[in-house]
Amino acid sequence: MLKNLVRVLRNGGKRNTCTKEERLLAQLDLSRLPRHVAIIMDGNGRWAQKRGLPRTCGHRAGVESLRDTVRACAELGIGYLTVYAFSTENWKRPRDEVDVLMNLLVEYLHKEIEELCANDIRLHPIGRLQDLPPHVKKALDMAISRTRNNQRMVLNLALNYGGRIELVDAVRSIVREALAGNLSPEQITESTIAGHLYTAGQPDPDLLIRPSGDYRVSNFLLWQLSYTEFWMTTVMWPDFRRVHLLQALVDFQRRERRFGGLIRGEKKCSGTES
Ligand code: FPP
Repeated sequence: MLKNLVRVLRNGGKRNTCTKEERLLAQLDLSRLPRHVAIIMDGNGRWAQKRGLPRTCGHRAGVESLRDTVRACAELGIGYLTVYAFSTENWKRPRDEVDVLMNLLVEYLHKEIEELCANDIRLHPIGRLQDLPPHVKKALDMAISRTRNNQRMVLNLALNYGGRIELVDAVRSIVREALAGNLSPEQITESTIAGHLYTAGQPDPDLLIRPSGDYRVSNFLLWQLSYTEFWMTTVMWPDFRRVHLLQALVDFQRRERRFGGLIRGEKKCSGTES
């Protein structure tokens, strides 16, 4: 749908009035989209409190943003979307809030399963899934199994996820292989570590989006974000819509990524890597 709109806009579908979304779409180069976008869905609590509502209303409103963003990413042709839904630190929140988040997740999976399948999206939860409540594990198993053959986009749902715990799990798994005699220390490379993360086999995120005005990584994808471009906005997650995603993508395409090297034709004389 989005692609059709881009085509219309580029093929002389000229109108006097153009929405912001249409203008951004027209600026987007669909051949240079990020392969992998990661999002820290932050600001739900503040969004609700500003409106005199309980924090949990912010989480409920955040589901709508998630739905819109997932659909937009799939329609654009982004291959991987990773969203931070519940961190290993979020258990410190009041019991009621944790329960609401877990129930929302189950509700989301049941409500969205048809839409995920219709859009050819594969659900891939990442995190310490074994420690989630049984009703959540059951809903995840259902969604994994129903979407397992879908190919258009992978939706990584980070649940009971922590970047440090992910590295601990990867190290444990590598040590197990070494103790079994299948791996020597010299054989361990960056690829070995990447291949033992929850995101094994996936490209690293090209773009990280963080709404709500905070400038933190919050224990998210610590290994994978090494050369990711960050895009921050003061928009709270429940207000985040595809127009904000498009803004992030347009800004991303204006960046020059060097991965510690130089741009073509540039001679190095001084300075440090960036
Ligand atoms: C951070 O905002 C958000 C979370 C801890 C939960 C994210 C969950 C959702 C968006 C609900 C939808 C997700 C699924 C998978 C159903 P915060 O509460 O820390 O906000 P604050 O910083 O304003 O307090």
